[in-house]
Amino acid sequence: MACSKALQRSTTLLRNPPVAFEPYIGQRSCSWWGAVQMGPPDVILGVTEAYKRDTNPKKINLGVGAYRDDNGKPFVLPSVLKAEKRLAEKLMDKEYSPISGTAEFCKNSILLALGEDSQHVSNGQNATVQSISGTGALRIGGAFLAAFFPGPKDIYLPTPSWGNHGPIFRHSGLNVKSYRYYDASTCGFDFKGALDDLSKIPERSAVLLHACAHNPTGVDPRPEQWAEISALFKKRKLFPFFDMAYQGFASGDVAKDALAVRAFLKDGHQIALAQSYAKNMGLYGERAGAFSLICSDADEAARTMSQIKILIRPMYSNPPIHGARLVTEILSDTSLRKEWLGDVKLMADRIISVRSKLQDNLKKLGSSRNWQHITDQIGMFCFTGMDQQQCEKLTKDFSVYLTKDGRISMAGVTTKNVNYLAEAIHAVTK
Ligand code: LMR
Repeated sequence: MACSKALQRSTTLLRNPPVAFEPYIGQRSCSWWGAVQMGPPDVILGVTEAYKRDTNPKKINLGVGAYRDDNGKPFVLPSVLKAEKRLAEKLMDKEYSPISGTAEFCKNSILLALGEDSQHVSNGQNATVQSISGTGALRIGGAFLAAFFPGPKDIYLPTPSWGNHGPIFRHSGLNVKSYRYYDASTCGFDFKGALDDLSKIPERSAVLLHACAHNPTGVDPRPEQWAEISALFKKRKLFPFFDMAYQGFASGDVAKDALAVRAFLKDGHQIALAQSYAKNMGLYGERAGAFSLICSDADEAARTMSQIKILIRPMYSNPPIHGARLVTEILSDTSLRKEWLGDVKLMADRIISVRSKLQDNLKKLGSSRNWQHITDQIGMFCFTGMDQQQCEKLTKDFSVYLTKDGRISMAGVTTKNVNYLAEAIHAVTK
């Protein structure tokens, strides 16, 4: 197409010209995409890009939540390696997966979340599909709420929440609102603030809850606080949507980490649930996860399942097979599953131990700040309480990479870099 025609056509398309329109006309660019502006880097994944460009040998990446061993290297779980070998020997075909993933994968996933003895599963009340990891599960859930939720098309997120939650739900067509969660003065849970806000939002609203190891704060409600939250949800007729991206990663115990999800079900809630195997099986790039709705009976589950499949089909047709096969291999074999539970505990324990080391080192350096929250918080992240300026200084002067909200991925801290990290944190906070 001639340049002038292309320009004319794009001009017609841009009926409500964005900010980029003027420069575009000025440049007389003859590209279809001349009006496209440079977007900002991703707040989390962009940190890794910047880290990679840094040539300082002491650099540390505490941005993205991805587990590292004590040498700072990516960790492929021994149980996953075993499953890989078994799959290779089986010489399986590469046919399409069903839209919902395999029934075996879905059953194993929901049982992992709800417990082997789950009545909801034995009654067929769950509509479970494989998803493209946790993000995909949230996106399917968002699409389902946008299409079928009988209440307001809003979802309430804790403040703060994972940086991708807002974009995922907005992209799904929901209005994203918030409720108080984190108390900066204690670096802990703002229980009163959360209850206060949740009791004021309109009845029949959908609310996102982090099932365990809250991201980015590492601050979880205690069991008795979960019980009160559940009662309030009942009273206010709120719909709980659980994001469980870290099952096993918080305490090292998959059942303990599922406490909130199971307690809500026991209290009679119907829930939505997003699961991810990125962290607890280290299957980051395999994109294996699950989305479930717990329904009132098997018939309702079958109906919702049919609609979830209709939503998935135009999005990505059907899910990738390899990661799901690894998960199925591990969860369905008693001895391999046991080995995997040991691997999860090993990762969780290493993180717990470097939390204490970081805290001890800061004390030894004479930091007058209270770093108690480093060990009080759990899971992959520590919400340090550092402000944006301190974070930027940490990166500029010490090549320590982190998100600007002061979150550090404890999974990137090792016995080798913890001294340097403590010195750097002390230098920017004293
Ligand atoms: C994180 O918060 O770092 C992880 O959940 C990875 C991601 O995709 O953001």
